[in-house]
Amino acid sequence: MLVSMKGILADADSNNYAVMACNCCNMENVEAVVAAASSKRSAVIINISPRQFHLHADLDAMIPMIVSLASAAPVPIALNLDHGKEYDDIATALKKGFTSIMFDGSALTYEANLAITKQISTMAHNQGCACEGELGHVGQASAGDGEKVDYFTDVDMAVQFVKETKVDALAVAIGTAHGKYPAGFVPKLDFVRLKELKSALQMPLVLHGGSGSGEENIRRAVECGINKINVCTDVFAIGRDSVAHALGENPSVDWMNLMSGAQKDMQDYIESYMDLIGSSGRYQYTLADKQQFD
Ligand code: 13P
Repeated sequence: MLVSMKGILADADSNNYAVMACNCCNMENVEAVVAAASSKRSAVIINISPRQFHLHADLDAMIPMIVSLASAAPVPIALNLDHGKEYDDIATALKKGFTSIMFDGSALTYEANLAITKQISTMAHNQGCACEGELGHVGQASAGDGEKVDYFTDVDMAVQFVKETKVDALAVAIGTAHGKYPAGFVPKLDFVRLKELKSALQMPLVLHGGSGSGEENIRRAVECGINKINVCTDVFAIGRDSVAHALGENPSVDWMNLMSGAQKDMQDYIESYMDLIGSSGRYQYTLADKQQFD
């Protein structure tokens, strides 16, 4: 069932677990995510960023497919605009049926981030959508941004930010970064800060850069209060590697078998991530129970 992200994250927050938000740019991605969520009885969030929908994942093709697959799934599924920055992209997402909007003003001044997030949060809520903000800045792994302590989220500012913007979830910077870390590098996360943020905010917190961050880090981040983990790089890499492997084995492999193999490999990875972050097995109900998550 397609629902707002708000109920999904409220349940994760009250029961101390996290839900995956997987970026999707085609049918195989979406099917892998929905199949993993259904088989693990886990909620899940489908992320699409403006870059992804402008370059490849055409929303007029993607959204009806997501609505159809999610409606038939026995678990709550949200469709979230990932890293919305431009007004037009956010308006498009709201118009076309996203159930959640992330506004990323993390590269702006605090004042500008707060003012725009407040407007977007009101717009989203007026349409029954959830809204995620970001304070501090989760940058790029390739630039070593995860190690830049001045990017980390300040606890007092976060309290003020959430109070004024009324966002339903806050993405925090505690040492992860987007993309692929250098080989062998495992980020060092600031769990003390994360615990302080959780205790001051008492709301769903989001970790961006969920790829390659190390199982122990991810497990502890969930224990310390993270409720949504964004994962893109690893899922895409698994799909790519699956295709490369199958072509290496047999360059004349059937196209449909190539795609279904990649889909299955992505599904397996997503299922094991769901086990790691504690979302598996949380939703043992039927589609008739949908209204409790709206
Ligand atoms: P990764 O690509 O590092 O998993 O980060 C994804 C993300 O945070 C999307 O918002």
